[in-house]
Amino acid sequence: MGRDIPALCLKAANPVRIGFPWGATKMGVNSVLIRRSASDSRYEELVAHAVKSLLAARVFSKPYPHISFDKFWPEDFYRELLAKKPEPTNYVQLNRENTRRQFTMFDGSCDAGDDERRRLWKLVSDVLASAEIEAALRQILDEGFRLREKGSHEGWPVKMYPRPVAYLDFDGYAIKPHPDTRRKVLTMLVYMPEDDSQVDLGTTLYKISPLGVFHWKTYGLVEEKTMPFLPNSGAAFVVIHPRYNLLRSSWHGRAAIKTDPEKPRFSLLNAYYAQPVTEAAY
Ligand SMILES: [Fe+2]
Repeated sequence: MGRDIPALCLKAANPVRIGFPWGATKMGVNSVLIRRSASDSRYEELVAHAVKSLLAARVFSKPYPHISFDKFWPEDFYRELLAKKPEPTNYVQLNRENTRRQFTMFDGSCDAGDDERRRLWKLVSDVLASAEIEAALRQILDEGFRLREKGSHEGWPVKMYPRPVAYLDFDGYAIKPHPDTRRKVLTMLVYMPEDDSQVDLGTTLYKISPLGVFHWKTYGLVEEKTMPFLPNSGAAFVVIHPRYNLLRSSWHGRAAIKTDPEKPRFSLLNAYYAQPVTEAAY
């Protein structure tokens, strides 16, 4: 998901480089060391729960390999996350229309507000970045990895490094069909609505149209399906660029969403990049 984001990069006190998306003139984050929340009493339970959810996912091969999954977080933890969302002021603007705002987790700051929120969202970040979740994704999306590597020749297993963030999307947010940048290896989304009332706001997957020449306005793409934006559910796919495989490219996007200003679309993006944060200026 998301888009290629031109960004400034500041060098933190440690070797971690922190990227600030377009439009972010004020940085509400601190440069802190990345630490594991492994000592948190719930860390292992949350990782195990997420892995179980991913390994029980529905697996689809067409139009490109992807999965959809449910019950990613334990129900009580999910409700706690919704009750203790990051403070709205701690997001950064991501697009000119200011319809997408990002809460950054991968830089280790997880500055969600007070100490309790900061600890909570650091825990979320660490769970998302865990080796166990990466292993589960490699297993369940094996076909996607193989398709990508066959075209990219980047080596096997394909290296990837997690960069979890949260998004708030407001009325009018839209993104045209795109396959994702080749610098991104895997996209994993966790939808975080309060209830079923935003079910129509999920990500749309596209396929190359057999009548592509007649669909020139839509890049020769037609909609395959729109993922239901349901509580605690999600989707994931390996990024397959048209240069890697034209007919199985990971085209996805989102038509303009309609939502109450007080009820933006809240989701987590656990994107994996081909380069670690320490080396990449995303
Ligand atoms: Fe995307």
